[in-house]
Amino acid sequence: MKKIPLYGSLSVLPDDYVFARTAKRKKEYMLAHPEAEIIDLGIGDVTGPLPRSAATELSKAVLEQSEKASFRGYGPYEGYEFCRKAVSDYYFRRTGVKVSEGDIFIGDGAKSAIMRLMLMFESEIVVFSPAYPAYADCAAALGKKVKTVTRSAQGDFQPRPDSLALKPYLVILCSPDNPTGTAIKREVMRDWFEFCRKSGSAILFDAAYENFCAEEGVFSAYMQDGMKDYAVEIGSLSKSACFTGLRGGWTVIPSEIADGRLKKAYERMLAATYNGCPYVVQRAMSGALSKDGDFERSAIKNEMRSAAKILSLALASVGFGVTNSDNSPYIWAEKPKKLNGVESFGYFIGNLGIAITPGEGFGKEWSGFIRLSVLGGEKAATAAARRILAHFKE
Ligand code: MLT
Repeated sequence: MKKIPLYGSLSVLPDDYVFARTAKRKKEYMLAHPEAEIIDLGIGDVTGPLPRSAATELSKAVLEQSEKASFRGYGPYEGYEFCRKAVSDYYFRRTGVKVSEGDIFIGDGAKSAIMRLMLMFESEIVVFSPAYPAYADCAAALGKKVKTVTRSAQGDFQPRPDSLALKPYLVILCSPDNPTGTAIKREVMRDWFEFCRKSGSAILFDAAYENFCAEEGVFSAYMQDGMKDYAVEIGSLSKSACFTGLRGGWTVIPSEIADGRLKKAYERMLAATYNGCPYVVQRAMSGALSKDGDFERSAIKNEMRSAAKILSLALASVGFGVTNSDNSPYIWAEKPKKLNGVESFGYFIGNLGIAITPGEGFGKEWSGFIRLSVLGGEKAATAAARRILAHFKE
């Protein structure tokens, strides 16, 4: 039989996505050990509930859809005006920067926006390792050239432009970042601005964790003056408002970038590939992004912060090197020497009943680290901390 040819670059992708692999291993373990009570600190999933501000708007919208008079079919590709305005107003409250409603595109979360944006650039893509694995996977699937820059575990994990040649790149920055929780410093963001100005590079700024960032860190590229000329930004309500199941996020493409050509190209591609985020979800998003929503998202952040504190103290007290747990719902921890060479996922699930994400899922050189998510909240973090203390203090 003649072989059907598939797009060549698909073959360079790793066999599976790291979170799909760990989910499969967790399922297999649970089938083999039905008595085990697993605490899942692996994939960064929330356990809810949705903020009331979002749920109220969502249910009103569902009822509107059930009446002929208020029913809505296809919406605008770029999102409804009410939702774009909610995002723009939120930006202003959060950063003091005015992001024009017309430059905001509502979507279903960060991943699809990352893929679409990568498609738009000719330049080589710069990824700072350790990094959210979807960056490298999307770039590889599209056949893009990727330059991986390893961040220093001895240093502060800040992604800096110093080692890059002065040529146009698409640089992916995430702040606070996944997995290390590092918030980019303001002076480092100034260096990026200078770098873009001199090199013709653009920034894809992933702000999925902005809600967790302390005020002194950078949580939007536009906090840096002039960055609208160089940075596109993606935001998401997945973690900050428990939208992992509902899906809702946005992309900002300032009209200033590439004299408006990027925005035009994005609009063109959006219309050809996407029929818009569902109306009911956009209503829920505007609820979550309202002033009432700010209080609820802040409560979610506070619970994650306290969960991160509990877990990082426990890990540190038994010899793990814990990095930056103040700005993110993830704990990035270096394993103690006695776990050198130990396969992390199997060890943690087998000995402690805790599912974690192994460091190598964020870059092959990071097998000496693990990532733990505290998005399951304080109860899961406290239970896990007890098991960690009991196991490693033995
Ligand atoms: C994570 O756990 O890092 C991600 O949020 C999961 C994903 O989006 O793939």
